[in-house]
Amino acid sequence: MGVKLTYYGHSTFVIDADGTKIVVDPFFAPNNPLAPAHVTAETIEADFMLLTHGHGDHVADAVAIAKRTGCLVISNFEIVEWMAAQGAANGHGMNTGGAYNFPFGRLKSVVALHSSTMPDGTSGGHPNGAIINFNDGTDIYFAGDTALTYDMRLIGEAGGVDVAVLPIGDNFTMGPDDAILAAQFVKAKRVIPCHFNTFPPIRQNPDDFADKLTDEGIECTVLEPGEEFVI
Ligand code: NI
Ligand code: MN
Repeated sequence: MGVKLTYYGHSTFVIDADGTKIVVDPFFAPNNPLAPAHVTAETIEADFMLLTHGHGDHVADAVAIAKRTGCLVISNFEIVEWMAAQGAANGHGMNTGGAYNFPFGRLKSVVALHSSTMPDGTSGGHPNGAIINFNDGTDIYFAGDTALTYDMRLIGEAGGVDVAVLPIGDNFTMGPDDAILAAQFVKAKRVIPCHFNTFPPIRQNPDDFADKLTDEGIECTVLEPGEEFVI
C-alpha cells in the first residue's frame, strides 16, 4: 500500500506504514494555529512517536499522546529520559549517527544544526533529523529544524532519498534557497516543505519554492494541513 504521510501543519506529520502509525513532532490544535481543529492530542492514533528535538513547537502534545496511547517514543537519549520523567516511560533512546531496526523499518538519527531545550528549560541534548528506510523500500528524510549543513551531502552520497521533508520557514531554520541546496545535497526525488506560515517570522510562499525546485528537476508536493500524500 506504500507509505502515507498526513501533514498537520508546521512540522507535524503522521506516517501510516502498512497500518503502523508513527507521529512525528506532535503539535496539534489548539496550540498549532495551522492544525485542523478536529484532530487533537485526545484523538490521534499512534504506535510510535518520533521527536526530532525538544522545542515546544515539536513536543507540545508529545506527553499527552504518549501517555494515552502507550506508543514507543523514539528520540535522542535526553528526550527519552525527559519523557519518562513526565510519565511516558515507553521510549527508545538513540543518538546522532546511530540507526536501529524498528518493526516499520530502519531509522537512522542524523545531524541537525539547531538547538534543543525542553519546554521546562532542561537540556534536550543535540537536535537530530531522521532517515527512515521503510520495509517496502521507501526512504524518507525528516530534516527536523536545521540549518543547511554540508553533512547533508553524506545522505546523497549514501544513495539519496525518495522524499525529503525540509523546513523552509527561514529565521529559525534554513529558508527556501538553502532548502533547495539541501534537496540537492541529499539527492531527494521529491521534497515536502514544512515549518512555514505558522508564525509571522516564518512566512513563506511554498508555491514559489516548489517552482524553483521544479526548475532544478526535483519534484515538490506542497501539502495543506490535513492533506495526505501516498509515496
Ligand atoms: Ni526548534
Ligand atoms: Mn521548530
